[in-house]
Amino acid sequence: MLAVDTWLPTEMPEYAKGFMYMLGSLTASSFVVLVVSGILLAMNGPAAWSHNPAMRFVAATHFWAVQAFFFFMMLHLWRVFLTGAWRGGRRLTWLLGAAAFLVAIPTAFTGFLINGDLYSQWNAVQAKDGLNAMGLAWVNLTNAGQMLGLHVAVLPLTLSVLIGLHITLVRLKGVVPPYPDTKAPSPPRKGHS
Ligand code: HEM
Repeated sequence: MLAVDTWLPTEMPEYAKGFMYMLGSLTASSFVVLVVSGILLAMNGPAAWSHNPAMRFVAATHFWAVQAFFFFMMLHLWRVFLTGAWRGGRRLTWLLGAAAFLVAIPTAFTGFLINGDLYSQWNAVQAKDGLNAMGLAWVNLTNAGQMLGLHVAVLPLTLSVLIGLHITLVRLKGVVPPYPDTKAPSPPRKGHS
């Protein structure tokens, strides 16, 4: 079981010491930057982040943190896929990661929508048509208030819970060992000199 004083690992298996195994932590770190910069933006409001130079910097940090978050998440996804990281009872860890990925997409998209420029308005109208066609008309992407609420509260909170559970399960299950080495030299065959 995890207790407060054993929450952070003190030892790592040898195979988990490379950069490939840091990608999940880099994704999580980008998420922390996203949340902190997002809180600063929400606290000061659109007038500040549009005109105040310090808040423009915070808005730019928020934007670049999204790029880093998705970049590292995709690399992390490749690493966990190629090392078969769902093995050994890690199915739920995998599913929570996949759910976080799926929730991250509308979180980013609603962020683009509340920019309010022509590009985001065009995206909102196109995506609204798509969702209407799928019978999801209650999500009105041209409703700026609904998009702001989803982007600053509902979706990031859901994502925080999913990422928190995902990382807790990684701590409980440990990092998956590599596949067995199938290229290891096989014993010499009989009947050959
Ligand atoms: C939403 C962003 C995500 C964050 C912040 C995150 C974070 C992490 C962290 C910190 C680890 C520890 C090991 C490592 O860093 O490689 C990990 C492991 C893992 N992640 Fe994620 N992850 C995310 C998305 C995903 C996705 C999209 C999947 C797959 C669909 C996934 C599946 C896994 C699995 C199966 C493990 C266990 C790895 C192992 O045992 O080798 N994760 N994740």
